[in-house]
Amino acid sequence: MRSPSALSRRLLPAALVLVLAACEPTNQGYAPPQPVNYSHAVHAGGLRIPCLYCHFGAERGRHAGIPPASVCLNCHRQVLPDHPEVAKVRAAVDAGKPIPWVRIHQLPDHAYFNHKPHVAAGVTCQTCHGPVEEMGRVSQHAPLTMGWCIECHRKGSERTGAGFATIPAAQANRLTDCAVCHH
Ligand code: HEC
Ligand code: HEC
Ligand code: HEC
Ligand code: HEC
Ligand code: HEC
Repeated sequence: MRSPSALSRRLLPAALVLVLAACEPTNQGYAPPQPVNYSHAVHAGGLRIPCLYCHFGAERGRHAGIPPASVCLNCHRQVLPDHPEVAKVRAAVDAGKPIPWVRIHQLPDHAYFNHKPHVAAGVTCQTCHGPVEEMGRVSQHAPLTMGWCIECHRKGSERTGAGFATIPAAQANRLTDCAVCHH
């Protein structure tokens, strides 16, 4: 006869995932005002500046990163130098102080995420962050819950097409191991 403990060892992880997926908090729609009124719709939409021009960290490692204010001045020493929002950027650079951008997407410390493997696998920024190039002010598009992460990691092997590389089934199974996201 199968012992109850063997049964629960087998079922517990699956049950835990379901329970956690159901009751996690979400910050979907969070769109705090920013210290400088910077618009992705103007820059990534209208001007078509590539995401990676500013968020080059996403290709290289864990964090996409926010560009230093000096990157803005690559253009804004010439373009709209007298615009009041651009003046704030120049003041920050002159003072040697970073602009205190308000962080929007933030996982708890116990969860590990890394941009690099996602970008390398061809998952587009928009898959997780929504149509940022249409946003005047960035808002959190996805729930960023464990259930959301696992759903894609599990179904990855079934998906094909634009913006998503096919994950082989064995790899997709490995991607749902707890240790992948909890070190
Ligand atoms: C010219 C530089 C620039 C470009 C190009 C750019 N961004 Fe940004 N991005 C910023 C700055 C500055 C911030 C911080 C202020 C804000 O939230 O708007 C930011 C914030 C973000 C955030 C929110 C970060 C957080 O705190 O969670 C996301 C997500 C993001 N960008 C994605 C994108 C995507 C996707 C693209 C391309 C479609 C893109 N960005 C293009 C400069 C840029
Ligand atoms: C698979 C989903 C996913 C993809 C694809 C993705 N991101 Fe993110 N992004 C996240 C998550 C999750 C966080 C929060 C990470 C954390 O708190 O450790 C985040 C955070 C950010 C941040 C703020 C914090 C940081 O890491 O610097 C920026 C900016 C950002 N992403 C930009 C981008 C850009 C630009 C791309 C495309 C090149 C992109 N992201 C692709 C899920 C994704
Ligand atoms: C590659 C060049 C380039 C970079 C880099 C760049 N901008 Fe711009 N920005 C422009 C241009 C061109 C315009 C004018 C767009 C128009 O009027 O159609 C503009 C417009 C603006 C405006 C006024 C228009 C509006 O309504 O948003 C602000 C404010 C601004 N940028 C802030 C920033 C900040 C902050 C950064 C850095 C995070 C930045 N820009 C980076 C080229 C750039
Ligand atoms: C839209 C699909 C998608 C979403 C959503 C997603 N991922 Fe991924 N994840 C992938 C793909 C694709 C890979 C790369 C697999 C490969 O390298 O073959 C990956 C790889 C990873 C890796 C590296 C695994 C390794 O060891 O190779 C980590 C860590 C990770 N994801 C964490 C997360 C976390 C945490 C979240 C949620 C905050 C998340 N992912 C959301 C598709 C996704
Ligand atoms: C693909 C990434 C991923 C995998 C795989 C994963 N988790 Fe998570 N987990 C997360 C993220 C992201 C969070 C934070 C989300 C939240 O709390 O909103 C989280 C949160 C948690 C929490 C805290 C919940 C809370 O309410 O604070 C526990 C406990 C947990 N996970 C256990 C597990 C166990 C056990 C497994 C394996 C069966 C597992 N995780 C597999 C991404 C993952």
